[in-house]
Order: sequence, then structure tokens, then C-alpha cells
Amino acid sequence: MKTTLYRNLSKCFHSKNVLDMRLHAVYGKRTQYSQGVDISDLPIDDQAVLYVHWPYCSKRCTYCNFNKYISRNVDNERMTRCLMKETQTLIECSHVSRINSIFFGGGTPSLATPRTIAKVIETVTKTTWLHGNAEVTLEVNPTHLETGKLRDFRSAGVNRVSIGVQALNDSDLKLLGREHDTQDSMRCIEEARNLFPGCVSIDVIFGRPGQTLGSWISELQKILAVSDQHISLYQLTLERGTQLFKWVQNGLIELPDEDAMADMYLEAVKTLEIHGFKQYEVSNFAKNGATSDHNTAYWTI
Ligand SMILES: C[S@@+](CC[C@H](N)C(=O)[O-])C[C@H]1O[C@@H](n2cnc3c(N)ncnc32)[C@H](O)[C@@H]1O
Ligand code: SF4
Repeated sequence: MKTTLYRNLSKCFHSKNVLDMRLHAVYGKRTQYSQGVDISDLPIDDQAVLYVHWPYCSKRCTYCNFNKYISRNVDNERMTRCLMKETQTLIECSHVSRINSIFFGGGTPSLATPRTIAKVIETVTKTTWLHGNAEVTLEVNPTHLETGKLRDFRSAGVNRVSIGVQALNDSDLKLLGREHDTQDSMRCIEEARNLFPGCVSIDVIFGRPGQTLGSWISELQKILAVSDQHISLYQLTLERGTQLFKWVQNGLIELPDEDAMADMYLEAVKTLEIHGFKQYEVSNFAKNGATSDHNTAYWTI
């Protein structure tokens, strides 16, 4: 049976920001560990997947309450050193002898330098065993700047990308506070599919303000026309503290009701299935077996 060990070992960058790195191990017996457990008490296991959080974004999206800081002046050298140290410490303290996959998430890790990503991967390979074909995913925001870095990310050791497309509709992208438009997404997907064939995922949010089942059905067709072999569909969650939350509270905009959301979800599951995308988690769909190794280490349905 697969279980997950969640450890967030250090919060050490500078006063405002935190480093967030997690090692998820596969255990034979279900055991819950909370923060504060003495690391020496942890059972030794040989397999783990590694999540590395890049906590910076260049702009705050109106719906997002993830752990992120808005900064265009990141000290990349310092972040690289901290992430390398954190990677080494986490792996050594956890006694894992094998890392099966790495996932760079955020925040916006595609704003990191390819050198930072390369150095973290190199630290993993120096500290433990990383299979030559291990999945190494990077979340990418499809702006012009970040699309231009994809080739260098590949040289750094990334072999799979997850693109935050969110919507194929420019007015919705504006409402969500995104920095890209539909054209940017198209360019990014095309470039990514050239560089990482079969290993490109796209993230889309549904249940957006004003969205109808009819508009969602036609948007799904556009998504299918450009997508590679993996799609993640997330229902928009109204998060307290976000701009979107305030707009809805003040009656300025409305989200589709629960029944409409459910219809959109069921429609998506059905349409994707018809096009060969098998659902392997609530929000994740893959065709031709292109499931994410990293995702499946966390959850399956
Ligand atoms: C936190 S973002 C990080 C990756 C990248 N910065 C981006 O925006 O694509 C990861 C995914 O979380 C999803 N997400 C964030 N906030 C959400 C919300 N309130 N409701 C639904 N999905 C959300 C988005 O779909 C996004 O693709
Ligand atoms: S959705 Fe992504 S880009 Fe937008 S604020 Fe959240 S982490 Fe940053």
C-alpha cells in the first residue's frame, strides 16, 4: 500500500520568505508523521519523490492563495545555494537511497534560472540515486519570457513540463489576473511539444465567472486540439483573502452554481475519455499511458 510521508524540514531563507521542500516516501505501512517528529525516528525507506517549491511569482493572480511572494528581484545565487543545501539535508536526514521523480512547483518555478534547476538536480544525483529516466517536471507559466527559457530548462535536466494555460479565453485570463494571453499559451504549448514530445501537460481552470456549459464545451475542443498527452482540470476554488473572493463577496461577479460546476466537470470527463484521455485522478487525465510518475506517487483513484 502506498502512503505518503510529508516533511517540510526547513524554513530558513529570509525573514519574509520560506523554503518549502518535501520528500514523499512510499511505505508498506500507513503511518502519519506530523511536523516536530524526530527525524531519527523515521523508518528508513529506499524510495521517495521530491517536490521543490519555487516561492516567487511576478504577479498575484486574482484567485490564488498558494504560498508565493511577488518579487522581480530574486537573489538567484542565494536561492540556488539554499535549495542545494536543503536538498542535500532533506535527503541525507531522511536516509532515502533513491529518488524516483522531481517536481519543481510554485509559485512560478519557470521564473527560476535554468542554472538553479540544474544545480538542484545535480545535488540530488550527488546525494542519492536518481534513475537516468526519472521524471523531472517543471511548472511553466506561458509568458513569452518563460517560453524562451524552455530549451535551457531541458538542458538543465527537465524532461516534462506542466503549463499553466488556465483558460483559452483572453477576457477570462484578464479576470484571473494572468500575465499571458491565449496566443502566448499556443506558442508555449507548441515550443514545449517540440522540446518535450509526449511529456507536456496543461493546467486549465473551469467554473470561471460567467462560464457556461456551452462555452466550456467549445473550449474543451480547443484544448483537445492543442494538447499533448496530459491534461489537468481544476475547478475554480474561491479562496478567502483573494481578490476574486472580495469581488464575489461584494456582488461584483458571480461563479457558476454547484450544479453548473458539476455539469462542466462531468462533461469534461466524458469528452476527454472520448478523445482517449483516461482519468487517473480527480483532476488528472492522460492518454497513451502518459500519467505523471510524480502524481501517481501521491494519489490515484
Ligand atoms: C499554484 S499554480 C503554480 C503553477 C503556476 N504558477 C501557474 O500558475 O500555473 C498550480 C495550479 O494551481 C491551480 N490553482 C491555483 N489556485 C487555484 C484555485 N483557487 N482554484 C483552482 N485552481 C487553482 C492552477 O490551475 C495552477 O495551474
Ligand atoms: S496561480 Fe501561479 S502564477 Fe498565479 S499567483 Fe498562483 S502560483 Fe503565482
